[in-house]
Amino acid sequence: MTNLKGRLVLLLSGPNLNLLGVREPAIYGADTLEDHVAAASKAAAQLGLEVEHHQSNSEGALIDHVHEARGRAAAIVINPGALTHYGWSLHDALRAFEGPIVELHLSNPDAREPWRRTSVITPVATGCITGFGGHGYRLAMDAVAHLLRTG
Ligand code: DQA
Repeated sequence: MTNLKGRLVLLLSGPNLNLLGVREPAIYGADTLEDHVAAASKAAAQLGLEVEHHQSNSEGALIDHVHEARGRAAAIVINPGALTHYGWSLHDALRAFEGPIVELHLSNPDAREPWRRTSVITPVATGCITGFGGHGYRLAMDAVAHLLRTG
């Protein structure tokens, strides 16, 4: 993994994740998004990877980041927030990305309200990490490193 494309992991955070730390801490924990990005970046660096992070409350902005990652990033880790459940445009954009995609959730949406049990992102994800809170960011980087090594 020598060139940037081979090392770069695009980490995307969807709507409302900018409020982590104050938003429903009983479900999402007390750590901020900044804390999670720092943990992901540290784990990535130990694995020889580099993280570029973007958060947006708009589906279109997230789609633009996915488009810009084509040919530039080796993998995408995405917590799509509630777009998980209805973001078909985001689904289509991810479908056009050529590398591995890890869908990441702090909570376990399958164990919550029925409407959270459908993910339109899972069909285009290589795999999902759900329900491990902030530790999921480290697990996601480990999964990406494994996928890039073996894929
Ligand atoms: C979430 C789960 C989604 O259902 C929810 O809309 C979020 C956060 C999670 O990380 O657990 O915003 O993606």
